[in-house]
Amino acid sequence: MTRKLALCNQKGGVGKTATTLGLASSLSEQGLNVLIVDVDPQGNSTTGLGVEVTEDTMTTFDLMSRTAPGAAADAVIATPWEHVDLIPSNEALANIESDGANDLIFRLDIAFEGIDLSPYAAVLFDCPPSLGKLLFAVLCAVDGVIAVTEPTIDSVRGIENLQETIRNVQRRPNPRLTLEAIVLSRKRTTGEHRFREAELRDTYGDLVARTAIPELTARQDAHSTHTPIHKFSGGKALALQVAYTDLLSELSINTEGSVA
Ligand SMILES: Nc1ncnc2c1ncn2[C@@H]1O[C@H](COP(=O)(O)OP(=O)(O)OP(=O)(O)O)[C@@H](O)[C@H]1O
Ligand SMILES: [Mg+2]
Repeated sequence: MTRKLALCNQKGGVGKTATTLGLASSLSEQGLNVLIVDVDPQGNSTTGLGVEVTEDTMTTFDLMSRTAPGAAADAVIATPWEHVDLIPSNEALANIESDGANDLIFRLDIAFEGIDLSPYAAVLFDCPPSLGKLLFAVLCAVDGVIAVTEPTIDSVRGIENLQETIRNVQRRPNPRLTLEAIVLSRKRTTGEHRFREAELRDTYGDLVARTAIPELTARQDAHSTHTPIHKFSGGKALALQVAYTDLLSELSINTEGSVA
């Protein structure tokens, strides 16, 4: 079954979008289809994939501004990246935080109701850096959370907060939700990063993915040229390609049975 996974951390700039796109690049490289749902008003996944949102483009905002079962199917577009589809986002999505509708946090889940996701190996939700309504809406719609964090002093505390949020959503309304993995991103070879990585592994054990994503400028260069990291040849892109592919193999994403 195709799993819906959210890449989360309320802290900004930790690598949620980079990890979303890196995993999508790995899946695409293996000939597997993936759907990215951009749930960030910054729209960094959308622009990173080289997609331009116009007035006519249906976005995540449209899915969340009304209650429409199955509407997600109408919002899916192909992207310049082979095998990668997208539900795009732009700054309009920020308005959702002030929407007081009773069913607001369920609308994203409802938008996916009845949709056949079997053509995709995974559906990846790129989350905004907040614990607001948008994040709750995602947590109601997905099966699992991949917490992305940098190995810094605040990371253990940040994961604790996210776990508490997950527990609240688990109680009601989404009992199937689990924290699937903690991914260390933007890892440098400094003593501080090594120390914090050890601290996270001590605290969370096997929940922390064995593969950490190194901080390498090729990641930014690939992003700014809208290029999948597996198609990027500059700098130390190869180390990033290996890291994202190794990370993918650790996650609960079925890379066997999906059709390309
Ligand atoms: N492994 C990496 N190596 C080098 N730079 C990276 C890496 N991962 C992310 N970056 C850069 O760090 C910045 C923040 O990364 P990214 O946008 O993925 O974080 P984010 O958690 O999605 O941020 P936000 O919370 O704003 O959505 C970007 O400029 C990105 O290109
Ligand atoms: Mg982001």
